[in-house]
Amino acid sequence: MTNWNSALWLGVLGIMPLASASPLGLSEPSAPPTASHPASLPHTPFTGTPTTTGALTASSIGTGIVESASVAPAETTYVSDGELQNAEPAPYVPAGGVGTEGQIPVYNAKSDFDYESLALALYQEWIELDLFQDGLRRFSAKDFEDAGLNAADRDLIAFMAEQEVGHATLISNMLGADAPKQCQYDYPYTNVQEYLDFCQKLTRFGESGVYGFLGHLDSREAATLLTQSITTEARQQMIFRQFEGLFPMPVWFEVGVPQSWAWTLLAPYISSCPADQTRLVWQNFPALWIENQPTLANAGKHNNGTAFNNTLSPGTNVAKSSSKENPNSKNGASGASVTPEGYSPLSFPGRRVDLRWEEPGKAVGPNNSYVTSTQAGEAKFVAWASQLNLTYTPLLGINGSSGYTIQPDMETYEGDPAVNGTMFIAITDSDIFLTPFNLSMINTHVVAGPALYQAD
Ligand SMILES: *[C@@H]1O[C@H](CO)[C@@H](O)[C@H](O)[C@H]1NC(C)=O
Ligand SMILES: *[C@@H]1O[C@H](CO)[C@@H](O)[C@H](O)[C@H]1NC(C)=O
Ligand SMILES: *[C@@H]1O[C@H](CO)[C@@H](O)[C@H](O)[C@H]1NC(C)=O
Ligand SMILES: *[C@@H]1O[C@H](CO)[C@@H](O)[C@H](O)[C@H]1NC(C)=O
Ligand SMILES: *[C@@H]1O[C@H](CO)[C@@H](O)[C@H](O)[C@H]1NC(C)=O
Ligand SMILES: *[C@@H]1O[C@H](CO)[C@@H](O)[C@H](O)[C@H]1NC(C)=O
Ligand SMILES: *[C@@H]1O[C@H](CO)[C@@H](O)[C@H](O)[C@H]1NC(C)=O
Repeated sequence: MTNWNSALWLGVLGIMPLASASPLGLSEPSAPPTASHPASLPHTPFTGTPTTTGALTASSIGTGIVESASVAPAETTYVSDGELQNAEPAPYVPAGGVGTEGQIPVYNAKSDFDYESLALALYQEWIELDLFQDGLRRFSAKDFEDAGLNAADRDLIAFMAEQEVGHATLISNMLGADAPKQCQYDYPYTNVQEYLDFCQKLTRFGESGVYGFLGHLDSREAATLLTQSITTEARQQMIFRQFEGLFPMPVWFEVGVPQSWAWTLLAPYISSCPADQTRLVWQNFPALWIENQPTLANAGKHNNGTAFNNTLSPGTNVAKSSSKENPNSKNGASGASVTPEGYSPLSFPGRRVDLRWEEPGKAVGPNNSYVTSTQAGEAKFVAWASQLNLTYTPLLGINGSSGYTIQPDMETYEGDPAVNGTMFIAITDSDIFLTPFNLSMINTHVVAGPALYQAD
């Protein structure tokens, strides 16, 4: 046996060989430890009284963010003609960029915005870790098989939980000692099909919630590492779509949404957090129900304008499913097929969408210690955030806190129906024009929502 082989073998056994024993320097891997978290927690609603109430606030709060009257001149001075405009700092190195001049990267939060955004992402990673394990604990192998998932598919879900340990560790390390800890959760699903739909929708707002702030972080270093974890989450979202029998990716672009949208969607499933948990600054908007959520079971032209009350909860609006029924077969797909054959779109432009929303002032989230609020006026529009686009349709038939709207017909680019995939809608008081990089300015106009709309 050569030194190399014995070093490898000892490494597999978990025995540390002498470093000098290996001419290739191969020794026991010694990676940093993962963040500690409870092995298993109960999944029950919170019944106590919170010791504190409301979002985290600073000692001074301004009156609002005002839109600039014009574009800063420096934004448009670069001559975009394909020639180098400045001297190169080194061979093969174009001038410009941030953090490219030999600075030592520091992977931490550099502002309140960074800390609060990363802390939100950490709350998300912790719930995913618990969620992926919960389905595997709660449902039997037979339950999964009935939904079209085999043992290897279940192993993949278990591996996704391991990925979340890594993501939670990464963000905890960047935040430091006061990073939010794992909480206790309470989920609405009652069978495998609903579980897969919940996972698919939860990972959608996890992913989109990060895209909404990535480009705005002060810490480019944190943004770089977060990108490297959110791309894994994007793969998880697509796999859950496939498990459920949905077309894997009907869109050309993945939408980004503001932090308060992600927090509004996430918080209701957190029942309690440990004492001294670091709190968040983000807003919880009043919840929005989609009364007739498009589903695999009702795909196509049915379910147009009939209130079905077909979701388990507002916000995520996971479609109710009977455990006996396997809606995958409706599209000729097995749960785990890569691309279902004969797939027909779940919704279509011109479809009537029935909506109902809650009034503000409801206690939600960890220990019921956050309170829903809105700064908006009268409910007038439905905002559709999908791909690169934000568009509005009029809110019709308003009766108290319910109404309906008609699914819009628009393309992101020619040939790409914009309202598609798992996307976001919200009730607003205005049809303010916004683009992906200033989308968070919608928040003061949100009456209720967001809700996840299963366009396809
Ligand atoms: C939330 O509930 C947990 C468990 O009862 C408790 O330890 C924690 O202190 C509570 N936190 C708040 C903010 O009420
Ligand atoms: C919605 O359906 C649930 C049962 O799934 C029922 O308990 C509830 O009363 C219904 N709500 C409305 C507004 O119809
Ligand atoms: C989503 O996009 C696919 C591919 O372009 C298209 O076939 C489908 O009809 C779209 N779905 C909706 C709801 O428009
Ligand atoms: C769906 O409902 C809307 C509004 O009631 C109507 O205009 C449209 O024609 C309907 N479409 C189909 C395919 O039934
Ligand atoms: C408005 O909603 C109430 C129930 O909340 C219902 O009784 C009433 O019929 C509705 N009005 C109209 C015009 O639909
Ligand atoms: C969708 O977004 C793209 C990219 O910003 C833009 O060019 C297009 O005009 C938008 N389409 C609609 C219907 O808003
Ligand atoms: C958002 O950005 C677009 C440019 O992409 C600009 O036209 C629009 O006025 C901005 N909206 C606000 C409210 O600042």
